[in-house]
Amino acid sequence: MEETIIKESKWKKEEEEEVKIQIYKYVIGFAEAAAIKCAIELKIADAIESHGRPMSLSQLSTALNCSPPLLLRIMRFLVHRRMLITVFKEETTAENVIGYSQTPLSHMLITVAPLLVLENSPTIVESWHNLSARYNGVEHVAGNMLHFVPNADAAFFMWILHAWDDKDCIKILKNCKEAIPEDRGKVIIIDSVINEKEENKMLSDIRLTLDIMMMTRSQKERERTHDERTHLLINKASFSRCIITSIPHAVPSIIQAFMS
Ligand SMILES: C[S@@+](CC[C@H](N)C(=O)[O-])C[C@H]1O[C@@H](n2cnc3c(N)ncnc32)[C@H](O)[C@@H]1O
Repeated sequence: MEETIIKESKWKKEEEEEVKIQIYKYVIGFAEAAAIKCAIELKIADAIESHGRPMSLSQLSTALNCSPPLLLRIMRFLVHRRMLITVFKEETTAENVIGYSQTPLSHMLITVAPLLVLENSPTIVESWHNLSARYNGVEHVAGNMLHFVPNADAAFFMWILHAWDDKDCIKILKNCKEAIPEDRGKVIIIDSVINEKEENKMLSDIRLTLDIMMMTRSQKERERTHDERTHLLINKASFSRCIITSIPHAVPSIIQAFMS
């Protein structure tokens, strides 16, 4: 007698159905960031903001000097996506036609545009495509940064320097100066910057609490203010300039120090 083997799936039918939809995220997931970058480059949010009220497709395409049918498709994508917050919303215009207006998200795009454009630039995106190479190609250099920092174009410290007092930070920073090229090298520090006048009370509280947390660990550890960071980098470690950039709605800031 012939044996019939019925091969049963290991997974539930609903799980498989869900996966068939989710897999699209990996196939066309890049479209999300590309559409946002497109909105930024076309300055869609800026145009609606300066118009001050909902804009029809024809008003928007005239303001942006864009083809209406193509702009319509971009706007449809940015308005009608259901899985995430919509970027723009549809609203009736003064001329009584359907138009587009701002949302808190599109309003924020105006402020964070430089960061988004940078993070989606070909150079940065290319490094994402080389993620797997990191695991094979990264050179791990053992050592004590108080004594030596290996040569590189940039030295990157994330949540590191807040664990060291000024004396040790100066040693580490001076070692970085030996390690990076004088003309184009930089030290990038991701740490929180205490600002007693910070308007966002929640962020301010987190940073102040982090400072107390660091203090409980050892007397060496501390979060620093803007002035303390500048003093340390310029006056003590003798960098020629530094730039401190806060990241909207984030606890840490980006601190960059340059030798020229
Ligand atoms: C708080 S962790 C870093 C957190 C990490 N950058 C992140 O953002 O998740 C501190 C790191 O500093 C390293 N570290 C501590 N003392 C060091 C030293 N003297 N030289 C080099 N690395 C050191 C530790 O091995 C640890 O990986």
